[in-house]
Amino acid sequence: MIGSHVWVEDPDDAWLDGEVIEINGEEIKVKCTAKTVVAKTSSSYPKDPEFPECGVDDMTKLAYLHEPGVLQNLKCRYDANEIYTYTGGILIAVNPFKRLPHLYDIQVMQKYKGAALGELSPHPFAVADSAYRQMINEGISQAILVSGESGAGKTESTKMLMRYLAYMGGRVSNAEERSVEQKVLESNPVLEAFGNAKTVRNNNSSRFGKFVEIQFDQRGRISGAAIRTYLLERSRVCQVSDPERNYHCFYMLCSARKEDVEKYKLGNPRTFHYLNQSNCIELDALNDSEEYIATRRAMDVVGISEEEQDAIFRVVAAILHLGNVEFSKGQETDASEPKNDKSRFHLKTAAELFICEWKTSNMPLLFRCDEKSLEESLCKRVFVTRDETITKALDPNAAALSRDALAKIVYSKLFDWLVEKINVAIGQDKESKFLIGVLDIYGFESFKTNRCLTGCHLPACL
Ligand SMILES: Nc1ncnc2c1ncn2[C@@H]1O[C@H](COP(=O)(O)OP(=O)(O)OP(=O)(O)O)[C@@H](O)[C@H]1O
Ligand SMILES: [Mg+2]
Repeated sequence: MIGSHVWVEDPDDAWLDGEVIEINGEEIKVKCTAKTVVAKTSSSYPKDPEFPECGVDDMTKLAYLHEPGVLQNLKCRYDANEIYTYTGGILIAVNPFKRLPHLYDIQVMQKYKGAALGELSPHPFAVADSAYRQMINEGISQAILVSGESGAGKTESTKMLMRYLAYMGGRVSNAEERSVEQKVLESNPVLEAFGNAKTVRNNNSSRFGKFVEIQFDQRGRISGAAIRTYLLERSRVCQVSDPERNYHCFYMLCSARKEDVEKYKLGNPRTFHYLNQSNCIELDALNDSEEYIATRRAMDVVGISEEEQDAIFRVVAAILHLGNVEFSKGQETDASEPKNDKSRFHLKTAAELFICEWKTSNMPLLFRCDEKSLEESLCKRVFVTRDETITKALDPNAAALSRDALAKIVYSKLFDWLVEKINVAIGQDKESKFLIGVLDIYGFESFKTNRCLTGCHLPACL
């Protein structure tokens, strides 16, 4: 009707609100603040003229629950530093892109303890409290799903949920022994060093999915925990596009203390093929050498020994050296070999770093990686048939693909090993009665054309 208030789509501002001043069949003319626009009636939405100035904290209270109404509500709350809003039992978090420590301190946790969902302003603590109460009162395990696009704040929200659960179910621990919840919280920097990277959307983007299962005893106290990870983005190890970065750990190690850099024969990250495909090496808000120290400290805390830490970083360095091995045509047709002395040096160094010394309880073990065998495994392919074993030489392009395949598989095995190690250090409670699971699922990105980066061609990935 003429005179009614509506929302119309706008290419710059998403939605504009205004008053209908003319109706011509399927089209309406709308007078907005800055301009007058013509829109189709079918793509315009009614606007609530009594919409409260500071919005509503639960969007089920909105007169119209359509896209412009939801966005208007979230925006006016965001402008007032209210980043959380409910839609019934779902909490919507808007990324504030600035630290708001007053929202998460211990007094706030105390306030949310035992308060019914919706009684206080929307908050992840309220969601965690509600899950905890339901688990205790009804004796049923709970799960919290955190979803949203990349950079939306899923991992940050997950950390808040975990902190609250640790607060509710934690026990007083002595200074020498870390509690389960402390170990779970402290495992974050380790996993983030190896599983997070800078992307276009997010400087600390999780490139894997994570499900943390917190186990509780009969009295509601945390008795164990397990971390499960999903689908680490392997392709990033050898393929990075501008302005993104590879996994944080590679840059950290290149900026490590001098003796470590020398031990692993590293140096400027720009000299490594797996890192210099992108121009983005340093990040303003992240000091890689400080992060290296912090990661080592976090590894100590979660129970990764000095020897194991050395083995982990040897593998990380070996992958960087592997990436610098280039191939040229070999003597036989379609064969390949390391291109020059530089490539031979990196191959030799990778082989040396892949050597693994391990002390078991009764004997030391030494797994040696022979340089010649490593070269052959990259430059040749072995087919095993029922009757014989056939070795086929690979051309330089195929050898480079083998090299990248090895780098990816080694990195993903290293990541799985780290997760396993953290799980052993945290400790599981096989007898646990209930659990609360928190899923921080892999953020999605929306491209004009979506393409599967793994090359698996599964319909689900296309
Ligand atoms: N509640 C918050 N308070 C302060 N800063 C935040 C908050 N939520 C998000 N941020 C900022 O936004 C950045 C991205 O958030 P986060 O890493 O949680 O996104 P994500 O949804 O997990 O993305 P991805 O899917 O890429 O992993 C954080 O590094 C932080 O700087
Ligand atoms: Mg994340």
